Amino acid sequence: MTDITSRTEAALAAIAAASSLDALEAERLETLGKKGWVSLELKTLGGMSPEERTAAAPAIQSARARIAEALEAKKAALEAAALEEQLARETVDLTLPAVAAPKGSVHPVSQVMDELAEIFADLGFAVATGPEIEDDWHNFTALNMDETHPARAMHDTFYFPDKTTDGKDILLRTHTSPVQVRAMIQQGAPIRVIAPGRVYRSDSDATHTPMFHQVEGMVIDKGIHLGHLKWTLETFFKAFFEREDIVLRLRPSYFPFTEPSVEVDVGYSNEGGRRVVGGHGDAPGHAWMELGGSGMMNPRVLAAGGLDPAEWQGFAFGLGIDRIAMLKYGMNDLRAFFDGDPRWLQHYGFSPFDQPTLSAGVGARA
Ligand code: PHE
Repeated sequence: MTDITSRTEAALAAIAAASSLDALEAERLETLGKKGWVSLELKTLGGMSPEERTAAAPAIQSARARIAEALEAKKAALEAAALEEQLARETVDLTLPAVAAPKGSVHPVSQVMDELAEIFADLGFAVATGPEIEDDWHNFTALNMDETHPARAMHDTFYFPDKTTDGKDILLRTHTSPVQVRAMIQQGAPIRVIAPGRVYRSDSDATHTPMFHQVEGMVIDKGIHLGHLKWTLETFFKAFFEREDIVLRLRPSYFPFTEPSVEVDVGYSNEGGRRVVGGHGDAPGHAWMELGGSGMMNPRVLAAGGLDPAEWQGFAFGLGIDRIAMLKYGMNDLRAFFDGDPRWLQHYGFSPFDQPTLSAGVGARA
């Protein structure tokens, strides 16, 4: 009896002193485990006479109950402490200045797209989108390039083997111009939208990659003319390059979806091997560089978009985003844009916290 009492006290003390779940489990095995002394004591009851059992049982059962209760309480306490400790260890201090952990950066193309959207939003343009996997009708036919049009061949199109359910070819869009058609059909006129995004052509060298980026612009209203187009592009480029001396040259050209069509060139000079926009392209030490195509929307395209060309006029333009990014931020190889080399990104990438805004400046500060 006293033996059981003293052993129980010793077990309770050991349980109270256990500093880990492992130590506690060892103590449990020693007492209540199959071969633990409490279990063995309980087994002896079976061989006793009823009188002996009545005398011995209460002490053993009380020892078992006290030890079991102590084990359970200690286990809960140790688990709570472990959780507390883990929570304290894994705390994230949200008050730390974010610059303390500069991880990741914004790709120049994304940065320039944000800058574009910001500037054009100020001019009243919304952003429109369309699928990169297009059908032949939106990419070509609705843009006044029917099946036999020679301009189709010039686009080096990636075709899919499948066709749409109504028999149209499926392709990777070769330009952002199909978004003109989608936006007209969805929103009608008047409308002012830009559509930045990826486009694809089977072409690859130092200045061409099979995937690149364009931004389409489209304005449809009454009485729209080429002067609106030129003012819009000039205003955009002045804001984008953050300089007033931007000179544009509109050079007569041809696109099936615009009439008249003009190519947009910007004057630049070479400074220390780097192209710097600004100035008249015919001035000494200057030249012209092509930035994209544009023109008055062809009446057939307006009609394909469900608009009456007798009532509405529009202009549209398409600019190479990668090209204007290279020009603004002084990068010289287009292919590096898509290599995913973290060192290049570290050099040219932008802080995620540096959002382009008109008030703070759309140009990124390094
Ligand atoms: N879609 C033409 C291209 O990819 C550019 C363009 C857009 C020209 C809109 C005129 C009007 O080359």
